[in-house]
Amino acid sequence: MLNCDVVRTRLKTMILGRNLYCFQVIDSTNAHLLGLARDGAPEGTVVLSEFQTAGRGRKERRWFSSKGKNLLLSILLRPELEIEYAQKITLASAIILANTIDQYLKNKNLPPVDIRFKWPNDLLVNNRKLSGILAESILQDKKIVALVLGVGINLNEMPEERDPAIRERAVSLKELTGADIDREDFLCLFLENFEKDYERFERTLYRQVIDEWKQRCNQFGQKVLLETPFGEQEAIVRDINDSGFLVYEDMAGKLHALVTGEIISGHKDASGF
Ligand code: BTN
Repeated sequence: MLNCDVVRTRLKTMILGRNLYCFQVIDSTNAHLLGLARDGAPEGTVVLSEFQTAGRGRKERRWFSSKGKNLLLSILLRPELEIEYAQKITLASAIILANTIDQYLKNKNLPPVDIRFKWPNDLLVNNRKLSGILAESILQDKKIVALVLGVGINLNEMPEERDPAIRERAVSLKELTGADIDREDFLCLFLENFEKDYERFERTLYRQVIDEWKQRCNQFGQKVLLETPFGEQEAIVRDINDSGFLVYEDMAGKLHALVTGEIISGHKDASGF
């Protein structure tokens, strides 16, 4: 089991995770943290759980993760920025997570893995999902009062321990490297990197986020099936614009920006992945 006392002692952050809630079982760390945020919890509050009975994914899907194997956490941010920034903050968190995975593997002398981003927030290795991020916000007068970033990272779960619905489409770091991942170490590194980089990105008003994000995305030029608010559409992925929205070309050659939606990539998907 994840040892939260060890995390508290090892963690070298000023704010992030200083207010840390650890559960064995919870409905959803995001749902719980949104409640705490409404009650005035401070920025940097983190909720962790070993298991979720109603883990939420994007597009009202479920997030499955077997007990005590992976990391399920939510981070509370209070960026005091307009809603327009929410997407970029979310993309920034994917960058921080991917960089943390690279750094963790390097620190432990483990082989590197090639992490690729799928818009908006999936971390994939060999087209299999290593991590998903769900951002949920509380707004007031078009400003972000609270942004809860929910992160699920597959660390030590092996295929036979995984929900059959996602067995083939998910992957864990242990499967990729053959090594047990030290979850306390990984979590501390992630929170420490998050605190540093969040400050860096915020200070520069997220100017570098799009460029850094694009470096890990190889979907540009690909023909895909897109889920848009107006239904499914064949499209070619062209770019990510300055707001972090997906720019795609429709079959008539016209360019559009997609604010919320999903790249289905040819297969229909109803299971959280
Ligand atoms: C997705 O890929 O659809 C996003 C998945 C996000 C899952 C995490 S697990 C911790 C946090 N609590 C939740 O209920 N969801 C997020």
